[in-house]
Amino acid sequence: MAITYNAEKRIFKLDTAASSYLLQAYKRDYLVQLYYGAPIPDEFIENRVFRTRVFSSFSPADIETDDLFSPDISPMEYPCGGIGDFRTPSLVIKNADGNFVTDVRYRSHKIYAGKPDFSPLPSAYVNADDEAETLEITAADKLTGAEVKLFYTVFEKAGVITRRATVKNVSEKPMFIEKFHSACIDIPDAEYDCIDMYGKHCFECGTERVPLGHGIRKISSSRGMSGHSHNAFAAFAERETGEEQGSVYGVGLLYSGNFAIEAELDSYNGLRVTAGINDEYFEWKLEKGESLSSPEAVLVYTDKGIGEMSRIFHRFYNNNLVLRGKQKDAERPLLINSWEAAYFDFDADKIYAFAEEASKLGIDMVVMDDGWFGKRDDDTTSLGDWFVNEKKIKGGLTALIKRINALGVKFGLWFEPEMISPVSELYKKHPDWCIHIDGREQQHCRSQYVLDMSRADVRDYLYNSIEAILSKNNIEYVKWDCNRNITNAAASLLPADRQGEMFHRFVLGTYELLDKLTKRFPDILWESCSGGGGRYDAGMLAYSQQVWCSDNTDPIARLKIQFGTSLCYPASTMGAHVSACTRTGYGVKGDVALWGTFGYELDPLKLSADVKELIKSQTDEYRKYNRLIRNGDLYRIVYPAANKGYTAWAFVSPDKTEALATTVFTEQMNCESIFLKIKGLDEKRFYREESTGEIYSGAYLKNAGFNMASFIKENYTSIKLHFTATEK
Ligand code: DGJ
Repeated sequence: MAITYNAEKRIFKLDTAASSYLLQAYKRDYLVQLYYGAPIPDEFIENRVFRTRVFSSFSPADIETDDLFSPDISPMEYPCGGIGDFRTPSLVIKNADGNFVTDVRYRSHKIYAGKPDFSPLPSAYVNADDEAETLEITAADKLTGAEVKLFYTVFEKAGVITRRATVKNVSEKPMFIEKFHSACIDIPDAEYDCIDMYGKHCFECGTERVPLGHGIRKISSSRGMSGHSHNAFAAFAERETGEEQGSVYGVGLLYSGNFAIEAELDSYNGLRVTAGINDEYFEWKLEKGESLSSPEAVLVYTDKGIGEMSRIFHRFYNNNLVLRGKQKDAERPLLINSWEAAYFDFDADKIYAFAEEASKLGIDMVVMDDGWFGKRDDDTTSLGDWFVNEKKIKGGLTALIKRINALGVKFGLWFEPEMISPVSELYKKHPDWCIHIDGREQQHCRSQYVLDMSRADVRDYLYNSIEAILSKNNIEYVKWDCNRNITNAAASLLPADRQGEMFHRFVLGTYELLDKLTKRFPDILWESCSGGGGRYDAGMLAYSQQVWCSDNTDPIARLKIQFGTSLCYPASTMGAHVSACTRTGYGVKGDVALWGTFGYELDPLKLSADVKELIKSQTDEYRKYNRLIRNGDLYRIVYPAANKGYTAWAFVSPDKTEALATTVFTEQMNCESIFLKIKGLDEKRFYREESTGEIYSGAYLKNAGFNMASFIKENYTSIKLHFTATEK
């Protein structure tokens, strides 16, 4: 049983392979968090509770309860504002009387197999009901009529707990949710670092590890989308935790809008981490009987290091999150994308010529990126006009796709559904459909505006126009782009007291459209994109199988981006292509792109014969290694930030019979002495390295390391070592 309940002590215990999580309905029904960490036995667990009150003369107490409990200091399960917990709360409600005090206490609970659905809000799913168990706790504020349900789903084998909350107004009068988070972790006596991902367009997912001092660190977005600046994920590691050892918590959010992860170290050295919707610019009115659900949070704890935390997330996202359908487990097509090859300068013949050349190189699919619709010859027009530009695509899309398919090549297409160009047919007809404020000047960003996705008529238009193209043509892949963030945020159909709902309603609208389209076309491979990785979040993974990781295709820059992205996102989701950029040769470019979904982003007609030969061998290598990379366990051996002059990582098959270790030499080498310590293999087994035929034990490779001396022949190259299990 993943979830047990001790009725006498009113303690819930949530167990996974990697962690135990304990919470209690304490005395007068306070929900307190007793423990979250490495697995512990069931016995004597209540004895560790709240011993700090004795020292806290300014901490409010419940006089009826006891001297050991104070909401100011005790670890709280779902902290609300105004009742003596002065740390950052998870829930703030302005009630009908206009004050912000909410006091939700335990009422009842249910435990059941499986997991409830909250669509179109993204959720991790169970593949079979016995894969997970759910605890649903109902708590309520008897004065204000705020009823809160807390949902915990325990994926025991995966080592994962998902959480979310629902708030319902069971009073007669309206109330306003001012802050709405999904999960909270309260860790007493904490000395932790925060590890998170920050970035910008073309430089996504830089990782940063900072010691948490007293006060609040907030990782968030107020862009309307999860954005390039921060990723909706953070890890909290003890100071001595490293890649393969030590305690670490990971918190991921299945949310593509304004999110926040806050970490507060309080004066008693308690660490509170709370994650959910960013409360900046957020307010949600609940009329009598109405309810709202928060996004889902994914919690992982392991005492086996940051690498193991990442692997738990990778397996979980692969098995229980990425969009289901034929493409979930199918071979991914090796594709060539027209963007960096031609930008807007293409026509049907050019796309056909790309496909023809690509087929000779072993490429499966051609993707026609931005520029095929309306009158779009540059980025100033036509977003929203989702009909084919017959001047460019002479003979029409159907005929082009048929010609390409006849070559044995599949076809994929680009859309940017949430956007509208002011120069477009759509804008002429519906100028009010974009997000705007009457009388306030619009802000341009890549010459485009954002559609108000909270409007049903906007969503219907998008569904119908995209559905028409996808249903009439053999399109096997869709790239869903999104190239600006939201400003002048207002929803023209909402009354003044609901304008604070606008950002969340935008995301809900986008999810609803994605839900409808992905269900209508379950066989399509969906790739999400937002100027590269500007919306690389776990919410979008519920509606796509992969994400274009970055518009930066330089392989050396990509090392940092891909290392960062891999903190929680699996290789199967990471869009990575070889482009024509010139900092390194095609060998390095191929080896770095092999980490991800793999493909090409260049003009195949401009390649030399040598490069074409190399590409042919790369497409073979992709087929040879992709299963291992997609399903394997990632070991980050040397981070680019280590500044060692080389970067290295390995994928090890789950059954530990095979590994591929890649090293990229990023600086000039001078008789370097490199012993690559390849972890994750079975220490008791033996492995043959393919290029030399030499045999090593797993223990040797892990502890002594593989001597790279004879492999470093040239500067700025890369080396792949392929190991397969063998008898001695
Ligand atoms: C941004 C994406 O990241 C690129 O790959 C490309 O699709 C362009 N948009 C097209 O406008």
